[in-house]
Amino acid sequence: MTKRVRKAVFPVGGLGTRFLPVTKAMPKEMLPIVDKPLIQYAVEEALEAGIEEIIFVTGRGKAAIEDFFDHSFELRQVLAERGKDFELNTIEFPVLEAGSIVYTRQQEPLGLGHAVWCSRELVGEEPFAILLADDLIMADTPCLKQMVDVFGETGGNVVAVEDVPLEHTDRYGILDVASDDGRLVEIKGLVEKPDPVDAPSTLSIIGRYILLPEIFDYLSDWKKGVGGEIQLTDSMARLIGDKPFHGLRFQGTRFDCGDKAGFFEANIAFALARAELHNQIQSIVDAYATR
Ligand code: UTP
Repeated sequence: MTKRVRKAVFPVGGLGTRFLPVTKAMPKEMLPIVDKPLIQYAVEEALEAGIEEIIFVTGRGKAAIEDFFDHSFELRQVLAERGKDFELNTIEFPVLEAGSIVYTRQQEPLGLGHAVWCSRELVGEEPFAILLADDLIMADTPCLKQMVDVFGETGGNVVAVEDVPLEHTDRYGILDVASDDGRLVEIKGLVEKPDPVDAPSTLSIIGRYILLPEIFDYLSDWKKGVGGEIQLTDSMARLIGDKPFHGLRFQGTRFDCGDKAGFFEANIAFALARAELHNQIQSIVDAYATR
């Protein structure tokens, strides 16, 4: 089996109900952070981590994602005629080499575990990454690159983790910790959305995973979990014990862009990080702070 992580799965088949009505006619993953859609940040992160094949698991109403990663001949021609070279460059970047992006469709949004299962034939028998575009991470070294490096050390499953407030454990997959060196956490159990009183820790999995292909054996059961959905966490929990399974406290800041407040915070943080926007955005933020 190849030991390199070459493929990344992007589950984009969810309904995005927390962002209705905008997600009625537009995928959540196309929501912009400053001027780029969430999905572009995630794909850029994957490419910077050495990923060579992008696998989108799409669903109904997600055609805008396919169009975004394809050429737009008319727009390209108009921009070229007007001499808008900078803009031309921005629309060309998301277009990868033909054949390096593949799509499959989750016919019903039965849960994240089901979306990942839909990619089984495209992934095959090799380790692979999963990125949830609504978890946006600002980091000097891309989060997935940090995880690929850990995979190089351990050869096992790796998930990105961060501490959450105890009262929020019922929103996340939570780790049961065997050992913890402050950076790498050896995992002995995983629980999806536990009540704070039952939570084995406050370390939560965020939307970045490197998994071994054995996960598909467990996902194929289609077993429903919390919320009646086929949960990825439940199948990951069954992987524990076979091969090493670690959580990585990644270096960087994660924004939960599936949530309105997190989405707006990300927009402010990414705009402030842009030299050409910084002063203008800072003065807007300051003005609101004193209202
Ligand atoms: P979320 O839990 O954020 O669900 O999914 P959602 O349906 O997109 O959004 P809300 O909660 O209704 O607002 C996390 C990721 O898993 C994908 C989503 O597209 C998102 O990237 N997903 C979720 C699927 O691909 N299929 C599913 O059945 C569920």
